[in-house]
Parts: sequence; structure tokens; C-alpha cells
Amino acid sequence: MAISLSQYDKMVSMDINHVELIASLIKSQKSRSILELGYGSGLCTRAIVSAIEYNSIPVNYAVVDNWFDTEGTQLVNPENLSRYIKFYKLSEQDFVLNCVTKYDFVLSDADHYNSNKWFDRVYNELLSVDGIFVCHDVTNKDFKNLFDIYKVCVKYKIPHMLFNKSTLASERCERGLLVIYKTTGVAPVSLPEGVMKETV
Ligand SMILES: C[S@@+](CC[C@H](N)C(=O)[O-])C[C@H]1O[C@@H](n2cnc3c(N)ncnc32)[C@H](O)[C@@H]1O
Repeated sequence: MAISLSQYDKMVSMDINHVELIASLIKSQKSRSILELGYGSGLCTRAIVSAIEYNSIPVNYAVVDNWFDTEGTQLVNPENLSRYIKFYKLSEQDFVLNCVTKYDFVLSDADHYNSNKWFDRVYNELLSVDGIFVCHDVTNKDFKNLFDIYKVCVKYKIPHMLFNKSTLASERCERGLLVIYKTTGVAPVSLPEGVMKETV
């Protein structure tokens, strides 16, 4: 990497208020299965681990990263953070397309150029009913493709909140944190086939 590790961590990590929201959602949902796509600085992973410790219930927690940002070099082992973490050194696409597990909570912050292409599979097959899906960077101008996920939520009336306002000079919340809820009886149980290929 041409930049130092601390510069990298600062560049990729989420805003702290968004990280705290993620931890609070997990503490409140009492998530029993969690999928995190994209380790980055590990800031979210550490917050999720402390939420799991707070809940004091056993959790199936999968962390997926192919270390794209460090050109394949694994600098840390996420499994050292918690006995509940199972780390998968895989591309997001390979993991998502082959996964047969359902998750109560999914955090998506890995393949920013492509995640929108398989959002329908994540929503339909990987997210439990009553599950929470959180996606970072949906209003980041560098990844306009991710805004398709927001547009599909609006079009298919999936309950959601988009958090993308900053009030502090130090914040970069405008990158956008989308939180969606697959609510029983309100949100569609599954999205139509091919939905992420159409213009929404
Ligand atoms: C923006 S960082 C995640 C930031 C993290 N949420 C945080 O708060 O620090 C993106 C991570 O996803 C990984 N990544 C990028 N493309 C990927 C892909 N196609 N499959 C799996 N992981 C990927 C990168 O190696 C990096 O660790």
C-alpha cells in the first residue's frame, strides 16, 4: 500500500455515529446470525463484537473479505477478535452466490463496484424475514451504482432509512448508510427475478 495503515483505516472506515447505530441495532435485534461483507479497518467488526458480547448469546458471525484493498495481503485475522467469528477469504460475489445460510443482520461494505448486482439475492436468500440489511456508501458519488439499492427499496416499498447528513467538519456521513428492514407483512418477502438488471 502506498499509504500508511492508519491513513488507510481513516479513509475506509465508517463514521462513528453509523458504527454506533450498527452496534445498537444488533444489541436491540438480538441478532443470532450476522454477515459482514468487508473488514476494512475492522472498526465495524470490533463494534459488532462488543454488541455480541453485550447480548451474551451465541452468534453465527461470518466476516468476508478477499483483501482486495491490500492486494491480497491479509494483515490481520478477524477470527482473533471473537470466538464467534468465522472468516471467509473470498470475494463478496463468490460468498453471496454460494451461501445457503440466512442472516438476521447483514452489513454490506465490500465490493463497491458490484454489490448492487446481487442485492436481490442477498435480500431474497440471505436475509431472514425480520432481518436488517445495512449498506454503506449508497450515496457516495464514487459508487453511483450502489444508489440502485436505494431506488429498489423505494420502488418495492421496503421499509428503510437513509442516513447521509453530516453536521461536523470531521464527518463523511454523506457517503450514506442505508438501513432496510424485511418486515413481515409489509416488505416483499422476495424481489422479482432480474430486478437489479432493470433500470429502476
Ligand atoms: C471500505 S472497506 C470496509 C470498511 C469497514 N466497514 C470499516 O468500517 O472499516 C472495504 C473492504 O472490502 C474489501 N473488499 C473490496 N472488494 C471486495 C470484494 N470484491 N470481495 C470481498 N471483499 C472486498 C476490501 O479489501 C476492504 O477490506
